Amino acid sequence: MRIYLVGFMGCGKSSVGKKLAALLNYNFIDLDQLIEESFSLSVEEIFNSKGEESFRIMEQKCLQSTFGMDDIVVATGGGTPAFFENMNRINENGISVFIDLPPLAIEKRLRMSRKPRPLVKNLSSEELLAFVIDKSEERRPFYLSANISINGINLKPEDIIDALNKKNLLQ
Ligand code: S3P
Repeated sequence: MRIYLVGFMGCGKSSVGKKLAALLNYNFIDLDQLIEESFSLSVEEIFNSKGEESFRIMEQKCLQSTFGMDDIVVATGGGTPAFFENMNRINENGISVFIDLPPLAIEKRLRMSRKPRPLVKNLSSEELLAFVIDKSEERRPFYLSANISINGINLKPEDIIDALNKKNLLQ
């Protein structure tokens, strides 16, 4: 069984994903971390030295490598579903969960976050909100092809388990 959490940057994929994995007794994989370990470069370094296009290729390769693993919860990157055939591959190889948060909540969380995010660094609050509105609109169709969509406000891992059980997606 593989569970893929998808959704915009800052929606809580990694924090809820870790707890979900612990509850299910699965391994937790943060796709950005897997990329960093596989290529011995930080996401920021990859964006800076190789550019976004190379990052997306590395991201696709690492995503692919998770299809050979079992009993995992994967926190994907916010852009993962929107490149190549990644979202279709995710749905062929696992169960996907879209964590849905409104742009204002995302913008607030991104402002508080310490994770380096090359796509939004150096943006003012106004620019950040505009970016989040635009990009999340653009990516939404990909996110919405997930098996389930769930409200990300005060999201608990148990809520994801309940939603998956309701659809008989957990054996
Ligand atoms: C990105 C999201 C990031 C990371 C990279 C690009 C994006 O992951 O993969 O900075 O394009 O939305 P998080 O969603 O974990 O922040």
